[in-house]
Amino acid sequence: MMANSNLVPNIRIDDKEFKLFIEEAQITASIQKLAEVVNVDYHDKNPVLIVVLNGAVVFACDLLKQLSMNCEMEFVKISSYHGTASTGNVQIKLDLDIDIENRHVMVIEDIVDTGNTLSHFIPLLKARKPLSVKIASLLLKPDALKNRFHVDYAAMEIPNEFIVGYGLDYNGKGRNLRNIYQVCD
Ligand code: IMP
Ligand code: MG
Repeated sequence: MMANSNLVPNIRIDDKEFKLFIEEAQITASIQKLAEVVNVDYHDKNPVLIVVLNGAVVFACDLLKQLSMNCEMEFVKISSYHGTASTGNVQIKLDLDIDIENRHVMVIEDIVDTGNTLSHFIPLLKARKPLSVKIASLLLKPDALKNRFHVDYAAMEIPNEFIVGYGLDYNGKGRNLRNIYQVCD
């Protein structure tokens, strides 16, 4: 999992310095592996992928390109983070505008940290009577998880450290980085 951070310079965003944590090639390989499983599980299900903006958008695009079944993509915007900490105050900033009744739904997240965001959002989805709801997340921080729910597809598990890059941000910045970086202590 750990990348050779000697070869890639640290980056600075606002008041924090970050070092290389997961290289692009490893991210790509983990998404390919995840997609192979999803392609089998959903081959006849025509799922609706619900992408949680903003962070999951980079992962969602790369995953989408690896999927071989018919599928649709929709977006919601949910926010709970401020700086480097989950606030627990979950807000739906942009809601779904399609009917998901009798559809197979897959929620696409960049990272499940405390689980506050999805434990708030999943019941709202289930109330709309989909046939199934599963969660696919690029990253999972198992040590940070406070809520008991199952992440069906996690491409990678990481320790409880703050990271940026590949869609993930610090103060809105760093989403454009191709690798994932970890905050320096
Ligand atoms: P949760 O509600 O605590 O599970 O946090 C989920 C959301 O917080 C994710 O969708 C991310 O947008 C954001 N988040 C969690 N951990 C990190 C991190 O290490 N870096 C950047 N954003 C994060
Ligand atoms: Mg997010």
